[in-house]
Amino acid sequence: MDLAKVFKQLKKTSEETGQASYLVGGYVRDLLLGKELRKDLDLVVEGSGLAFAKAFDKQLKEAGRLIEFPDFDTARYLLPFSETEQLELEFAGARSEAYRSTSRKPKVEPATLEKDLARRDFTINAMAVPVAVFAKAKSPSKATIVKNIVDPFGGQADLKEKIIRTPLDPNVTFSDDPLRMLRAVRFAAQLGFTIDKKTLEAIYTNRERIKIVSAERLQEELLKLLATKESSIGLILMFQTHLMDIILPEVSNLDGVEDVYGHQHKNNLVHSFKVVDNVGERTDKTWLRLAGLLHDIGKPGTKKFVPKIGWTFHGHEHLGKKMVYAIAKRFKFSKDLTEYLAKLVRWHLQPISLMDEGITDSAVRRLIVTMGDKINDLLILGRSDITTGNPFKKERRLKNYDKLEKRVAEVLERDKLRAFQSPVRGEEIMKVCGLKPGPTVGKIKEAIEEAILDGKIPNDYEPAFKYFQKIKDGYLKDAAEWEKVC
Ligand code: CTP
Repeated sequence: MDLAKVFKQLKKTSEETGQASYLVGGYVRDLLLGKELRKDLDLVVEGSGLAFAKAFDKQLKEAGRLIEFPDFDTARYLLPFSETEQLELEFAGARSEAYRSTSRKPKVEPATLEKDLARRDFTINAMAVPVAVFAKAKSPSKATIVKNIVDPFGGQADLKEKIIRTPLDPNVTFSDDPLRMLRAVRFAAQLGFTIDKKTLEAIYTNRERIKIVSAERLQEELLKLLATKESSIGLILMFQTHLMDIILPEVSNLDGVEDVYGHQHKNNLVHSFKVVDNVGERTDKTWLRLAGLLHDIGKPGTKKFVPKIGWTFHGHEHLGKKMVYAIAKRFKFSKDLTEYLAKLVRWHLQPISLMDEGITDSAVRRLIVTMGDKINDLLILGRSDITTGNPFKKERRLKNYDKLEKRVAEVLERDKLRAFQSPVRGEEIMKVCGLKPGPTVGKIKEAIEEAILDGKIPNDYEPAFKYFQKIKDGYLKDAAEWEKVC
């Protein structure tokens, strides 16, 4: 079903139910910005949102899927759009929503359209266009939209001026839903807009209230910020407004430059933000950008000034990994995301040690086996970690990464290591040796794997089995002697 048809049906539902309907929020904002039209539409209707959605569904002869939220009198409608895409319509009755100081659940009351718009986050999101305008012309001109738009708070002017501003006193808007403070910094990064002075000050004043926002919403918004091309714009704002101190104090703690006898280390906060942007230039993966943000969080806790050597951060990758688990718990990250971040933070220095110690086949194999399918992401992180202002140094380090990347590709191709494990499996070891499951089986398997990683034998069954036959008696003897002692 195409959009024009959807708008016609919406208009029909409005006529049938006597409920006026409007498009609001991101769809209107992006339309005025001339952006690609989105597939998620927010609709505000007079009266009950749920009743309107039900009537719409009936009219479409249940062509889509209606998801009802009776507690909020809202509904979502999922409509097949093309073979791969679907349209997502959110229906809500015009209402005011207010959060009490201690609760995460809003108090919802029916209201006029203007009141509904007033209770929204930013003026650029607080504009409504009657659905009828879209039903008339397939794609109405900007002039037609501007003529019919309901814009009580100057959203169009703010779009032109590139300003993020709350429709009401920002203290009220942020108190209603503190997540909006994070949304403000995200929109600043996403749209390249400036946050209005009063609005920015209110973020600072109300920052503590972000604590009442659920982990899931915080996580979603953080990842949305990291999905923007230049996330550092939002990250810097988070830091300046002290939101960062509450949400991610581990990142705030990276700030600062210490000086001992004129020896300074770099500001790791500035460095980490740069790394996030560098990753952003190389890939769209938001998880990897988050790894970039967190890769050095172990530095403040491991920092030492060692005479004759200078500043050191020994073990910061180990401490960083531990801290990642704590952050993941706080944000309720999925297991996959947690393990991903832990692995990248733990091993982010490994490519550099490899380059320093010599890129041997054996070292490359070990790196591939350690990282599994995250190996390419580790190399992107490593390249992005180069933030030196010295162009010669930068070029030399990037060239080292070119070399390493080439070697990784060669070893991967040759040794089929992606899902690496001993070609001689545990069951076979037990059968041949007459062993029951236990530590000796594991030790023999590990010895075969080590031999492959060291390049003593190729990663194939025949040579691995031969090697197994050669070493097994030694392990069996050890096991027998151990049993005697016990
Ligand atoms: N909204 C709000 N406060 C929030 C979230 C949303 O006032 N915390 C309002 C805004 O008017 C917003 C609309 O609800 O435009 C739709 O919300 P959402 O889909 O989350 O945001 P979009 O503006 O559409 O942008 P994005 O999808 O990029 O988040």
